[in-house]
Amino acid sequence: MEARHPSESCTTLTDLVLTGETNPLNNLFGGELLARMDRAAGIAAGRHSRRIVVTASVNHVAFNKAIPLGSVVTVEAKVSRAFRSSMEVYIDVWVEDRQSGDKTKANEAIYTFVAVNESGNPVSVPPIKPETALEQERYDAALRRKQLSLVLAGKMKPDDATELKALFITS
Ligand SMILES: CC(C)(COP(=O)(O)OP(=O)(O)OC[C@H]1O[C@@H](n2cnc3c(N)ncnc32)[C@H](O)[C@@H]1OP(=O)(O)O)[C@@H](O)C(=O)NCCC(=O)NCCS
Repeated sequence: MEARHPSESCTTLTDLVLTGETNPLNNLFGGELLARMDRAAGIAAGRHSRRIVVTASVNHVAFNKAIPLGSVVTVEAKVSRAFRSSMEVYIDVWVEDRQSGDKTKANEAIYTFVAVNESGNPVSVPPIKPETALEQERYDAALRRKQLSLVLAGKMKPDDATELKALFITS
């Protein structure tokens, strides 16, 4: 399979924060943001693989900044690394200043999607070739994150997570 670039999967969803999507402080409800990120990431994984994809895990979410009612929110998702059937998708969330149009990074998240066939069994996906320095950085760290996710899910023995362990071993 021919390698694809992260930019080919780039998916951008822009939407408002409406009443009914907020918590008692009138900020965007975390579950609503998770759903928006899941949708954008699922589209990105589908664009990379051109297969049916399912969310396998949410590896990391940081709600760094509250997003007030009425904000214009942009969720940008890109496949950062493809393995055999799984893909790591990196999601950046931006809030737009209505007057200046400037965008401030509010949150980020990392999801794992798996490409499956009609019976729900995992299938292979194309490899990925990072192009920018940021894409390369995210690609390089993705294997450690995959190993951490598998260890936490009880699907990999910590001893087998060699790249992850290397982070903690200094010579
Ligand atoms: C995701 C799913 C297809 C994985 O099936 P599985 O039987 O574990 O299949 P495998 O063990 O072959 O794993 C498939 C891939 O997923 C990866 N994977 C599985 N669990 C993972 C986890 N918790 N974190 C990261 N990667 C994971 C495996 O490493 C493997 O990757 P690779 O092929 O790129 O090496 C299966 O668990 C599933 O269908 N889950 C439900 C998905 C769903 O409905 N999501 C919506 C949420 S409601």
